[in-house]
Amino acid sequence: MTKEKFYSTLEKKLEKLVPHVEIKYKAEIAWEINEWKRERNAVILGHNYMEPALYHSIPDFVGDSLELSRKAAETEKDVIVFCGVRFMAETAKILSPDKTVLLPAKKAGCSLAESITAQDVRNLKEQFPGVPVVTYINTYADVKAECDICCTSGNAAAVVESLGAETIIFLPDEYLAGNVARDTGKHIIFPSRKFGQDSPDLDYQMIGWHGKCEVHEKFTVEDIENVRKQFPAVLVLAHPECSPEVVDASDFSASTTAMIRHIENSKADQYLLLTECSMGDNIIAANPDKEMLRMCSVRCPHMNEITLEDTLACLKNMQYEIEVQEDIRVRAAKSVERMIAIG
Ligand code: 13P
Ligand code: SF4
Repeated sequence: MTKEKFYSTLEKKLEKLVPHVEIKYKAEIAWEINEWKRERNAVILGHNYMEPALYHSIPDFVGDSLELSRKAAETEKDVIVFCGVRFMAETAKILSPDKTVLLPAKKAGCSLAESITAQDVRNLKEQFPGVPVVTYINTYADVKAECDICCTSGNAAAVVESLGAETIIFLPDEYLAGNVARDTGKHIIFPSRKFGQDSPDLDYQMIGWHGKCEVHEKFTVEDIENVRKQFPAVLVLAHPECSPEVVDASDFSASTTAMIRHIENSKADQYLLLTECSMGDNIIAANPDKEMLRMCSVRCPHMNEITLEDTLACLKNMQYEIEVQEDIRVRAAKSVERMIAIG
């Protein structure tokens, strides 16, 4: 493709969202990134939350955490550039240890990943010996290494059911756990508050943790009610990191990619997306006929650390390389691969 064609394709995609002058500036950077990508024999994986100019110009694959883990495991390129947050890039390294995995920002954390340590998991295993541990993919490698199997928002209930266990430990997202407990018919307790206070023979079925996503915890049932009053025919989609009350008040809840597909395949008058706002922009760019309502007061500061400028610097300077200690990686890989095997 010529540079002119690349620019006009991007302009057409983003014309409802970004002024031409800005697209021209971003297209220049994206063009240079794509040249460096060839030079480095790299693949770029982009999470659905990336800002629209980046999302629609440089990734070879876009998707949710589960899809991108699969792509990371399959790639034959030498270098994986992860346009997402650190735990995602770490998962790519866990699955592809011989590749160079780069994250365009130094930190790009996640409030869920930071809510729990490997020692916390070891303490829980001591409190509840023999109980299988399911860990959300939004955790760091040392936490994954302590668990039996990982899950993502796209397969959490299926992973729990695949274990066929009466009781499980589900970490660290309190709200995802609550949503999975409801879907699988289990009741849930939180040992950090309750352990030691309950009768020892209480029928524990799901043991949770108090981690929360700083974006999704902010959406409320009242937000949904207010929007429904203004737009009675709106279809409300909530990510399962939202509270169970918010998910119950919405019309659909699933992983980021499943939400995109659901919007593409339905014909509502308007859509309200309770998740990181950039994803709504990306849907508008790909489906200009859809009316997306804006709820952009809540943003993910970590996903927003990833810019086109930093991705260019990442490929030019081969920064910031993700390293995972080998003994931890081997144990973490078992949990992630077990998850990928069940789908
Ligand atoms: P998905 O796996 O659904 O893309 O979610 C990742 C995430 O971090 C949501 O906040
Ligand atoms: Fe983490 Fe929430 Fe940001 Fe997703 S949106 S990366 S869960 S802080």
